[in-house]
Amino acid sequence: MNYELIAHSFETYFNTKPKFIVRAPGRVNLIGEHTDYNDGFVLPMAIDREVCIAFSPRADDKVRLFSLDLQTDSVFNIHSLTSSHDWGQYPKGVANQLLKAGYDLKGFNGIITGNIPQGAGLSSSAAVELATAKAFSVVSNFEWNAVKMAKISQQAENEWVGVNSGIMDQMASAVCKAGFALFLDCRSLEIQHIPLPKDISIVVLDTSTRRGLVDSAYNERRNQCEEAARWFEVKALRDVSAKEVGDWKVESGLSEVVMKRARHVITENERVLEAIDVMKNGNAKRLGELFNQSHESLRADFEVTNDALNMIVACAREQDSCYGARMTGAGFGGCAVALVDAEKSSAFVKAVETTYQHKSGLEANIYVCKASEGASQVL
Ligand code: GLA
Repeated sequence: MNYELIAHSFETYFNTKPKFIVRAPGRVNLIGEHTDYNDGFVLPMAIDREVCIAFSPRADDKVRLFSLDLQTDSVFNIHSLTSSHDWGQYPKGVANQLLKAGYDLKGFNGIITGNIPQGAGLSSSAAVELATAKAFSVVSNFEWNAVKMAKISQQAENEWVGVNSGIMDQMASAVCKAGFALFLDCRSLEIQHIPLPKDISIVVLDTSTRRGLVDSAYNERRNQCEEAARWFEVKALRDVSAKEVGDWKVESGLSEVVMKRARHVITENERVLEAIDVMKNGNAKRLGELFNQSHESLRADFEVTNDALNMIVACAREQDSCYGARMTGAGFGGCAVALVDAEKSSAFVKAVETTYQHKSGLEANIYVCKASEGASQVL
């Protein structure tokens, strides 16, 4: 993003230069979908699209945050937070959770802006949360602990915003390293930075479809996974292997739909572990196959794709330069991700834009992504 322009906007709005600028990225999940809330494995990567806050301390306990993109502000007193039904929920939720964790917070005036499309499955809300946490850490002068801040941001989303999401998005926005994907064990929160295979581009394909009611469908999937875990008598589906399950016959007490949800999660965890191995060996071909299998499992067993996602994935796979493609994020619309021969990525983008538009009548937004750094201070 153009930080000078953001500083300039701050100056226009507040009549003084900002003292600090922080940023936090969105993410694309390479593989490991709907596994995080099953204590499983994920492999996201921070992208070069982010949320940015330019700000200066205030003498009182207020936060005044002006959204450049929405042209509205959110003003709140840190010590008397009330919930609202707007984007201000995210910064307020983070403030609330930081206070609960015992941090002493200071007020600030800020400008917030971003270039992560909303509702596309690229974690724009996690980026707002982590950018807010970063701003508080700078202005209130407390030490930045990336993992702790990811947890606090997730709690803000769960408890204040009321979305029951897992830990993947916040961890990706907080701890990713430029040039690497992040292998995360969502139970222990152990991480490993995994280098991307050489000569490969990660391409995000936004179907430009968005679906409402995502939260209720998401919570329903979570409940079904928990039901399956109870049936298997384990803490979470992470504790079951495909080998133990055998031939996936529907057993008494387990409905077919719950069995399918469990099969997705259990096999997806195994695909993530294999993906780590093949990435370490630079085997793009096999990684692409795992992407394809993941999509099939999300389509047929977890049932979180839509026609547009299935179509854009098919358009991507038609290209010889594509090793594999799958939906990414919660699903029901939003984005897919493809693994593409880097030398041919521009031709890939053009070809998929054309065929997708021809087949669906929709215009896709397709971009080659750079693996970026987690939340940081710019000024
Ligand atoms: C959303 C949630 C994540 C994760 C994904 C699906 O992005 O916020 O926690 O569950 O969906 O993998």
